Amino acid sequence: GNPGNGGDGRATSPLTPVLTRRWLSPRSWTLRTYEQLEGYVALRRALAAHPDQLIQLIKDSGLRGRGGAGFPTGLKWGFIPQNDGKPHYLVVNADEGEPGTCKDVPLMMADPHSLIEGIVIASYAIRANFAAIYVRGEVLHCIRRLHAAVREAYDAGYLGRNILGSGFDLDVVVHAGAGAYICGEETALLDSLEGKRGQPRLKPPFPATEGLYASPTVVNNVETIASVPYVVLGGAPWFRAMGTEKSPGPKIYSISGHVERPGQYEAPMGATLRELLELAGGMKGGVPLKFWTPGGSSTPLFTREHLDVPLDFEGAAAAGSMLGTTAVQVFNETVSVPWAVMKWTEFYKHESCGKCTPCREGTYWLVQILRRMLAGEGTPADIETLLDICDNILGRSFCALGDGATSPITSAIRYFRHEFVELCERNQPARQATETALAG
Ligand code: NAI
Ligand code: SF4
Repeated sequence: GNPGNGGDGRATSPLTPVLTRRWLSPRSWTLRTYEQLEGYVALRRALAAHPDQLIQLIKDSGLRGRGGAGFPTGLKWGFIPQNDGKPHYLVVNADEGEPGTCKDVPLMMADPHSLIEGIVIASYAIRANFAAIYVRGEVLHCIRRLHAAVREAYDAGYLGRNILGSGFDLDVVVHAGAGAYICGEETALLDSLEGKRGQPRLKPPFPATEGLYASPTVVNNVETIASVPYVVLGGAPWFRAMGTEKSPGPKIYSISGHVERPGQYEAPMGATLRELLELAGGMKGGVPLKFWTPGGSSTPLFTREHLDVPLDFEGAAAAGSMLGTTAVQVFNETVSVPWAVMKWTEFYKHESCGKCTPCREGTYWLVQILRRMLAGEGTPADIETLLDICDNILGRSFCALGDGATSPITSAIRYFRHEFVELCERNQPARQATETALAG
């Protein structure tokens, strides 16, 4: 029954918490609690409006995709063709697989009805009568909770035929994936949902025009859809009062690693690591920070120099990284950078779907070289070879997975080249020391 994994959803602004505000309420995941705390009020309001008004509202709010890429949500909804005679679909990407990212599962565990309410509003806006929640297969507890919440919503008339007497029909299906990272890529996800092997499709066409079963489909992340009822309730100016001009609204930051209290922390977009560390009780045992990821391992690393970078889409990019999934993984001085990079690279190699050569072969060779370095058998030329392979993957891969695999390596060499050089010159295994430090 624990909503999150330790975080307490405290916020740095008087306007937040928004997304996590029910998380600590007793039995927050039940319809009863949800209705007591303003649940499904936004839906009634939305169903009284015209679908186009809702799309305009989301555009005005400036809400951007919370899955990592930050694409404007209202714009995406607006791409769905009207009167095309085809069925439309909403697909919620709940496959959350980016290393360090752990915000969507706690959200669905603590407050599944906020997601369901968002789904009904979004489906109504894009004229979809079918929605699927594609959730990663490993999180059985979460799948069960979603099933229970969907059932409650059907029984109460929030799903199914003629929702709240509006004439609008919507069916929602909870679909469990099988644990492949690539199935979080939206087009691989759609293939998987159609019963095929999950591999990315060529884009364009984007899902908005040719998605599930080649029909117009909106694919949105869990946190994006769960934000929608609050926008309907609070209005666009209220939403824009939080965060920055181009990245407005509240955000859940997942803080993991060497901090005193890892967990989910909600803050307005643009919070800095310095502020987030304060919420998370500071560095564990006071051991100083060495490096961190702003949004999962696919986003270039940051260092101590980046403590005051505003963590919004523009701020993170201007400082040389990306906001990504706001998975803030914090590493202290005891960690060997090449060792951490090797662990991430092993992940990408394992998860590469094999469809394109640069990523399939490149991640294999990156792992070989990093393992050799970490085993104390590297040569100084290995550093250049790593960079060269990254250069041949970046921009030449079929989907974002390949590009993401290069981020930890190139950024680590940019900021911590000396560690790679030392490793090659010293010719001693580094792995054991770090593993002991992490275990401690
Ligand atoms: P993208 O920028 O290609 O697309 C983002 C969204 O906008 C997609 O839904 C796409 O269909 C839509 N879109 C973009 N241009 C469009 C156009 N012209 N017309 C219609 N729709 C358009 O990014 P992508 O590849 O979907 O996602 C990459 C991001 O995913 C990375 O930033 C990374 O942080 C994140 N990521 C998140 C993971 C997670 O577990 N949440 C896992 C791995 C990566
Ligand atoms: Fe598959 Fe990697 Fe190519 Fe993406 S970049 S299509 S994951 S092989």
